[in-house]
Amino acid sequence: MISTLLPAAAVAVESTTDREIVLFPEEAHQIRNAVVERQREFTTVRWCARQALGRLGLPEVPVLPGRRGAPQWPGQLVGSMTHCAGYRAAVLAPRSEVCAIGIDAEPNAPLPDKVLESISHPEERDWIARLRWSAPEVAWDRLLFSIKESVYKTWFPLMTRELGFEDAIVMVDPVARTFRAHLLLDREVRATGAPTWFDGRFGTTGGVLLTAIALPARQPGRTADADRQLPSGVR
Ligand SMILES: CC(C)(COP(=O)(O)OP(=O)(O)OC[C@H]1O[C@@H](n2cnc3c(N)ncnc32)[C@H](O)[C@@H]1OP(=O)(O)O)[C@@H](O)C(=O)NCCC(=O)NCCS
Repeated sequence: MISTLLPAAAVAVESTTDREIVLFPEEAHQIRNAVVERQREFTTVRWCARQALGRLGLPEVPVLPGRRGAPQWPGQLVGSMTHCAGYRAAVLAPRSEVCAIGIDAEPNAPLPDKVLESISHPEERDWIARLRWSAPEVAWDRLLFSIKESVYKTWFPLMTRELGFEDAIVMVDPVARTFRAHLLLDREVRATGAPTWFDGRFGTTGGVLLTAIALPARQPGRTADADRQLPSGVR
């Protein structure tokens, strides 16, 4: 399912059951004191990552958390991983095709009380309120949360800077199942050539919401850097 939300260059592997693999010693060290559920999600999502590496013709390598927990991939790749109850996925893409990628999975159920207020802008709460009535099959508040998690997973490995929930404002197209996250960046951060928006796709599968963002490395006639410097909304 998650592959349908991503460009063809991305290799996606997902699992709805837990998998047994022998972790590399460095990986096992990461979860030596973790509770069983954390050990399962950590192990299964690395099974997904190994499958994806294999499909790209690459050998299995340890997938270790780097700065702020961002997974470390072989240099020629970008990648992202997610896990929630009943769902795990890893995606990888050649850096020559995709310069940043982020995926997230969340249960398709409303957020706990008061969380929405802490992660959203009033404009976002407006579309959530409208869509709650017209399309109740999606937990739109949870979707917003998932989109912002995907935004962070795309942003952080690219920029190695923090990004808060208040730093993105998201609009969705509920029919096309796409979204755009505008990044509300300081002038100083914009001056670095940081991207000012991310486009992505969302979907649902078996009680799980999925969101995905993939930034193309280049578009015809443009460099990735030039793309990222365009002002918000200009394409
Ligand atoms: C890091 C974070 C995004 C993870 O999301 P989550 O929904 O809690 O958890 P998921 O299961 O979907 O994803 C976990 C995976 O994310 C990846 N991840 C963790 N930190 C990351 C980072 N800084 N950058 C990119 N990916 C990261 C890891 O692969 C992790 O799996 P692992 O621990 O088994 O290696 C989240 O915990 C967080 O810190 N959010 C606050 C920041 C934020 O979202 N800001 C909003 C910006 S608009």
